[in-house]
Amino acid sequence: MIPHLLSITDLEASDVTAILDTAASFADVALRPIKKVPVLRGRTVCNLFYEDSTRTRISFEIAAKRLSADVINFSARGSSVSKGESLKDTALTLQAMGVDAIVIRHSMSGAPEQLTRWVDAKVLNAGDGAHQHPTQALLDLYTIRAHRGRIEGLRVAICGDVYHSRVARSLVQALVLMGAEVTLVAPPTLLPPRVETWGVAVSTDLDAVLPKADVLYLLRVQTERMHQQFFPSPREYARIWGADRDRLAKLPEDAIVLHPGPMNRGVEISADVADAPNALITDQVTNGIAVRMSCLYLMLGGEEIGS
Ligand code: CP
Repeated sequence: MIPHLLSITDLEASDVTAILDTAASFADVALRPIKKVPVLRGRTVCNLFYEDSTRTRISFEIAAKRLSADVINFSARGSSVSKGESLKDTALTLQAMGVDAIVIRHSMSGAPEQLTRWVDAKVLNAGDGAHQHPTQALLDLYTIRAHRGRIEGLRVAICGDVYHSRVARSLVQALVLMGAEVTLVAPPTLLPPRVETWGVAVSTDLDAVLPKADVLYLLRVQTERMHQQFFPSPREYARIWGADRDRLAKLPEDAIVLHPGPMNRGVEISADVADAPNALITDQVTNGIAVRMSCLYLMLGGEEIGS
């Protein structure tokens, strides 16, 4: 297994399959009266979050606790970062306290990789800038495989703010690695440079793509990262690129709809679609715990599952 989980590009298809299969074996821990296995007893996991998060931070915390690890939650807000302490000194402080794994979210692309040069702990990337969010991609793959039985050969349409999206970068790499056919759909202003090198089809016409999609993956419009106007208004965006009831009807009957969250209801996704039976957004959240348990377990070299 890889020493750190920084990017989907570090993984082979066999690594992805191993992570998803191990996640499947952990999924039933959530159904037990006592939701714990003792495989990481005595290990310490630190969640080091320099950017806001709901799903990823809580999910990693629950995952580590279900594996019986000790968990430290570090948020840059309220820490000595506000007194000017650097990432390096924060990392060395955690190292001196003996943490075994650091889960890091940071606004700077490459911060998790930099961390690996300063600490002996395993580093797991929980989202760095617009670069990577590997555990999000893995939980998305898990959800697709759980509902469609496979990933290879599926047609996945990823729609929205590709330009600012670490989720899109990670997910495209993971889907292509596992043999899916990906189409990116976005306003031309929200397509990244050199997107033609990503190994995907590209369209600006969502209505034309929908009838051929097995999976519709909607991306959040990331207004907090937009320092210029990329589209005329949220209303205009919703009209042309948003998923609503009429567009949902254009999908094949067995298609599923995914979104990484948090959602902008009424912009990239209408309330009708967010709450539709084939929208698996809360399933993604549930599956994220098993996938992160799997990553922590495989990277920290826990004892046999079920011991
Ligand atoms: N999907 C995701 O990364 O959500 P959070 O920002 O809430 O962690």
